[in-house]
Amino acid sequence: MKYIIGNWKSNKSFSEVRIWADAFKAENLSLLQNATIIICTPYPFISYMHECFKDYDFIHIGSQDISFYGSGAYTGEVSGHCLQDIATYCIIGHSERRNYFKETNATVDQKVRNALGAKITPIVCVRDERDVIPDDVQLVTYEPVEAIGTGKNESVENVLAMKKKLFLKEHHAFLYGGSVDPENAGEYLQNKNIDGMLIGKASLDPHRFFAIAAHSTE
Ligand code: PGA
Repeated sequence: MKYIIGNWKSNKSFSEVRIWADAFKAENLSLLQNATIIICTPYPFISYMHECFKDYDFIHIGSQDISFYGSGAYTGEVSGHCLQDIATYCIIGHSERRNYFKETNATVDQKVRNALGAKITPIVCVRDERDVIPDDVQLVTYEPVEAIGTGKNESVENVLAMKKKLFLKEHHAFLYGGSVDPENAGEYLQNKNIDGMLIGKASLDPHRFFAIAAHSTE
């Protein structure tokens, strides 16, 4: 079983989200039923997307972050409790958060605790072997900074070399992200040592996202 994760980042208006959801539903989604599809939208769209895809047990909606804090007086933050009925997954430690928002391994660890406490499955992103993988995390995504949004995807060979350096355990699933598109996704997804993909730009287009996911069935 492969994980196909879309990360919309800070994109789309509500009307654009409706168009995306309708177009994705018009694809032959039953083809993907042996994969786990996770769509990580900006916070305002999670609830709508959760409603749209609630009848598909292989499609899940996730967030792209979670508050460092719990529920309470933290204006502007979104806690695990706020998310728990509508999001089943949560990206934590994306390199953009580590870079622009100065998140550290300690921040990432606390956010993982908060996600798990809310029964949300964390998807932890690492840039290389220096980023710590917190305990109890199952989904680990290797995202080399040079490959994100640049069109320069990392070779399968290099991705597997990094996997070795991460010293993953039996319970870990190992994913790759960075300029994945419908043309190159097959190489990764056909490799039994890569458990899935995290897709940024190409996930903004429902047809391209579907085309990537369809490689998981080959
Ligand atoms: P990209 O982004 O697919 O646009 O390179 C990947 C990511 O940052 O999650």
